Amino acid sequence: MWLIMKVFLLQILAFLVFGGGIHCQASTRRLTFVVREASYTRLCSPKNILTVNGQFPGPTIYAMKGETIIVDIYNRGKENITIHW
Ligand SMILES: *[C@@H]1O[C@H](CO)[C@@H](O)[C@H](O)[C@H]1NC(C)=O
Repeated sequence: MWLIMKVFLLQILAFLVFGGGIHCQASTRRLTFVVREASYTRLCSPKNILTVNGQFPGPTIYAMKGETIIVDIYNRGKENITIHW
């Protein structure tokens, strides 16, 4: 009887750990990047740099395994640009 009870408890534990307890679901997240020119002064001379959402360098994208990230980019600068990851 004790052995049957033990096996039953192990089955419940296995279900909680591998089946029902932890649930990793692939999800989709959407980010918005607005690229703008900003001036900054270096060695006493003003220069233009491109910022992403006001940041330079741009924000880091963290993604979970299996996650889909969609990034909408609005280029508010003067020139055409490419974005590299
Ligand atoms: C930017 O790209 C568009 C579309 O390809 C093109 O028509 C335009 O001439 C480009 N502008 C510059 C400044 O390169």
